[in-house]
Amino acid sequence: MKHFLKLLDCTPEEIFELLDLADKLKYEKKHGIAHPILAGKSLGMIFQKSSTRTRVSFETGMYQLGGQPLFLSPRDLQIGRGEPLCDTARVLSRYLDGLMIRTFAQQEVEDFAKFGSIPVINALTDFAHPCQVMADLQTIREYHKTTEGKKLCFIGDGNNMANSLIVGGLKAGMSVSVATPKDYAPDKTVMEFAAAYGDKFQWVQDPMEGAAGADVLYTDVWASMGQESEQAIREKAFAGFQINAKVMEAANPGAMVLHCLPAHRGEEITADVFEAHANEIFDEAENRLHAQKAIMATLMKD
Ligand code: CP
Ligand code: NVA
Repeated sequence: MKHFLKLLDCTPEEIFELLDLADKLKYEKKHGIAHPILAGKSLGMIFQKSSTRTRVSFETGMYQLGGQPLFLSPRDLQIGRGEPLCDTARVLSRYLDGLMIRTFAQQEVEDFAKFGSIPVINALTDFAHPCQVMADLQTIREYHKTTEGKKLCFIGDGNNMANSLIVGGLKAGMSVSVATPKDYAPDKTVMEFAAAYGDKFQWVQDPMEGAAGADVLYTDVWASMGQESEQAIREKAFAGFQINAKVMEAANPGAMVLHCLPAHRGEEITADVFEAHANEIFDEAENRLHAQKAIMATLMKD
């Protein structure tokens, strides 16, 4: 694996190897076993959008691996003044050992990978959030022992999270159902990928139908970063696409609830359900650290 740009690029074996390494690094961290796998290496971190979890977990994760993280604000970089991406990618490749990018267009992370010569990690685009899904799969394995044969149901917007969960869930051996309003379907390329999985994938417009028999219920904000001006329209379109007590009843007993965060209580999830599943949700947030350390270690070690 040279880059980590989207889960469509990863084989199931690569995904499971990353998850096993994430578990190992988590165990070592909890038991005070140092793992300076990336000593002497530097990771650049470009954020074109806000972040709490991703920024802090990458930065501390790189430090725990013995390396140096560099937060690069587009406000300070020449890229913010129009320096071409193809030049920035080639320059940064001369200094850094890896580059993490959070931005809008998926094409930007693909282009950094194409023009640069160092590993590139997608830390969220409008199309995908693969780092989050690695943490999600790690958390599902912790609670349900395995991903194989389990059913994941995503309720809400067919956004970057839905796209990555469909691909990651199916590749990890899960059945995946996605409940979205008709006009907010997941990306076409993802739907085409999922179609090959037959009845292991289901796209529905009824959250109750999607949640039936689910082992994992997942939701995300109705308006993603960059869509704030559509908030009012989206609140109307997504009314009912919420994880609440009724939806929980349709799921399997013992079903877990995950949310990538930040959460909007009263919109995509009720406060009651959120708090009842807070342990799972904050374990999931913690696992961003361990899963991303596995990604960095895999891509950046000698
Ligand atoms: N889930 C997630 O990516 O959170 P941040 O936007 O805070 O990084
Ligand atoms: N879909 C959300 C995910 C945030 C982690 C967004 O892109 O804003």
